Amino acid sequence: MSTLEKAIKELPEKGYLRMEIPQDIDLVEEINRMRKEKNAVILAHYYQTGDIQDIADFLGDSLQLARAAEKTDADMIVFCGVHFMAETAKILNPDKKVVLPDLLAGCTLADACSGEGLRELKAKHPKAIVVSYINCDITVKAESDIIVTSSNAEHIIRALPEDQEIIFAPDRNLGRYLNQVTGRNMILWDGACYVHEAFSLERIAQQMLEHPKAKLIAHPESQKPVLQVADYIGSTANLLNFVATDDSEEFIVATEEGILHEMRKQAPNKILIPALTNDKSCNCSECRFMKLNTMQKLYLCMKYELPEIKLDEELRLQALKSINRMLEMSKAIK
Ligand code: 13P
Ligand code: SF4
Repeated sequence: MSTLEKAIKELPEKGYLRMEIPQDIDLVEEINRMRKEKNAVILAHYYQTGDIQDIADFLGDSLQLARAAEKTDADMIVFCGVHFMAETAKILNPDKKVVLPDLLAGCTLADACSGEGLRELKAKHPKAIVVSYINCDITVKAESDIIVTSSNAEHIIRALPEDQEIIFAPDRNLGRYLNQVTGRNMILWDGACYVHEAFSLERIAQQMLEHPKAKLIAHPESQKPVLQVADYIGSTANLLNFVATDDSEEFIVATEEGILHEMRKQAPNKILIPALTNDKSCNCSECRFMKLNTMQKLYLCMKYELPEIKLDEELRLQALKSINRMLEMSKAIK
């Protein structure tokens, strides 16, 4: 059973989710009032809905959010993202209350790997060190030597001795990309992000024909054929920065479309085209887990201070080592 499944099973009070929100309430006003009253900080990932991004104290990608969680002096961290992100915030802040608007906000990458499975793979490669993508649960972090995000993975892997055997978990696409750019031959766990795997090369090629001046930009969680034709590959924060600073006026964006909200703010004159996926019925690249969080659930979560992330202390201390190693090794990355 994953830590997320365990947390859901042990959730003491689910009833608060059925609490009625008074009709005449101004959610923004109430959230702002509670934030002050409870000395809470709202951290949000770029894949959250626009209204949540707008109300957050801090908006960022996985690395930026981990750093913000490390630095905050708030009493309560309200994490608007997915479970592994809130769990990381709690690993870094055992004495603070960490809440997540919807406990079911999981992640296919985190679900693809368990600490137990990773232990078995480690036993087959006793000399290997384990570098894990932050999109994993606490049991995987506890079995890992170093955690990375898409913003710092290349930098950290390059800093490791060239002859060091490495297991990379759980994203096979990011792992393959990192092998290619660093010239390594890391052993890859076979997990994937269902959102980034859904991009259709065929349909993107059609978009490129229709928009000949547009640059294709892609997150490295995407599959190899998409990355091969991309003009730029980068983490969420790097894609944002590229759109804001590059001379081109048009971009086809192959990542979760929540980032378009901030891209439009930072680059209001640019034309942003979400890359098409295999799913012709929806044409969208939304992460269904990220979108479970809503303003209503954010309000309820702040009011009742639930669902709260609770962790086993021994596991937390073990996982903390690999996260601290990442924070230490990626100081040079903005
Ligand atoms: P980054 O925020 O590191 O770019 O990761 C993207 C992602 O898929 C988060 O779940
Ligand atoms: Fe996980 Fe992909 Fe959703 Fe990110 S976008 S939370 S990697 S399923």
